[in-house]
Amino acid sequence: MAKIAIGIDIGGTGIKGALVNIKKGELASERLRVETPPGGRPDDIAEVVRELITALDPNRVAGAIGICFPAVVQHGVTKSAANVSKEWIGLDADKLFTGVIGKPVHLINDADAAGVAEMKFGVGRKFKGLVMVTTLGTGIGTAMFIDGQLVPNTELGHIEIDGVDYETKAAFSAKERENLDWRQWAARLQTYYSKLENLFTPDLFVVGGGVSKEHEDFLPLLRLQTAIVPAKLKNTAGIIGAALVASKLSK
Ligand code: BGC
Repeated sequence: MAKIAIGIDIGGTGIKGALVNIKKGELASERLRVETPPGGRPDDIAEVVRELITALDPNRVAGAIGICFPAVVQHGVTKSAANVSKEWIGLDADKLFTGVIGKPVHLINDADAAGVAEMKFGVGRKFKGLVMVTTLGTGIGTAMFIDGQLVPNTELGHIEIDGVDYETKAAFSAKERENLDWRQWAARLQTYYSKLENLFTPDLFVVGGGVSKEHEDFLPLLRLQTAIVPAKLKNTAGIIGAALVASKLSK
């Protein structure tokens, strides 16, 4: 397996990328970031991703380029679009990116990518049982692992509570949009994680997303039966996980 791979993390607000040392689970270059083009349309995003990859010196890398995306991704086709353009729904995104970039790519859901990285190199390392990795950002992403094995595309950020898609209440973007303080936001997280706990009885919750670096302000406010810990890889998890999955496939 090649040691250096490229990981790209497409988000609702920014697109990030880096070379990744997939043996160590570390970035092997600077982390580049560009704004997501307004509207989040497929052609515009593909062009920005191409520019990012060019800046990363792709000739150093042999295998497929890993890309993670904030939607359901099944066999390279994007099947939902909560915080990006609806034009992604039903699109063969793998084909679009491969065409624009001129190299093979492998696309997966962003939370699944972050989860894979956390399970291999972060807090979930060697953890057995049912682990739910959650990412709190523009939306809520979830990745579920049973004895380290991913069950892809769980999309539990969209669980309805009291008739509302709960990511609109408990994502980090809701805290910012509604100007909630930590306590007010934690009350919503309490509702959200209690719901997951009632439905799945996990052994561990992992909390990722940019806000996880401020975990001391909100995790201690939660009262759960399940252990809940901050992610270790912070804002590099998606990049590392996408690169890792792609490089395994092109071994
Ligand atoms: C999307 C998921 C994504 C999550 C985090 C949700 O709105 O439906 O696919 O993983 O946001 O970006």
